Amino acid sequence: MTAEAVERKAPYVIEWREGFKIGIAQVDQEHRHLFTLVRALNLQSVQHTVEELLDYVVTHFSNEQELMESSGYPAFEQHLRLHEEFGAHVADFLGNEEDWTEERVQELRRFLNKWLIGHIMTHDLRFGKWHASQKHTPAPVAQPAARSGFLARLFGRG
Ligand SMILES: [Fe+2]
Repeated sequence: MTAEAVERKAPYVIEWREGFKIGIAQVDQEHRHLFTLVRALNLQSVQHTVEELLDYVVTHFSNEQELMESSGYPAFEQHLRLHEEFGAHVADFLGNEEDWTEERVQELRRFLNKWLIGHIMTHDLRFGKWHASQKHTPAPVAQPAARSGFLARLFGRG
């Protein structure tokens, strides 16, 4: 097997880094867990791992949105739309009912990693900086969200 073939076959793995922190402990912890769940996606248990991941995405988005809304973040609505677009994209990907293959699992993993990094390092970080500039008391801990929002409906949970 050539080096190129080995590289193609190697799973696409991105580990959490300290540099992904946005400075809000709860959000950072949830982001970190998302990376762990993306890493755990595998063909053998794909139904279960995808479901667990999406379930946690819904919880995380809800918690993050609650923190933004309750702290009066000016770009809250815009941020909400980004989460919704993500949900629609994932729903599209999962909705075409193709059989799972190693390639398809890796495609999903690659998309999730790229989206997460881009989103965290741009939009979530913007919230983290804004939040720090507000000098208010530490962010309240978001309560587990009721699953009645857009994503919950999108993913068939409610
Ligand atoms: Fe976000």
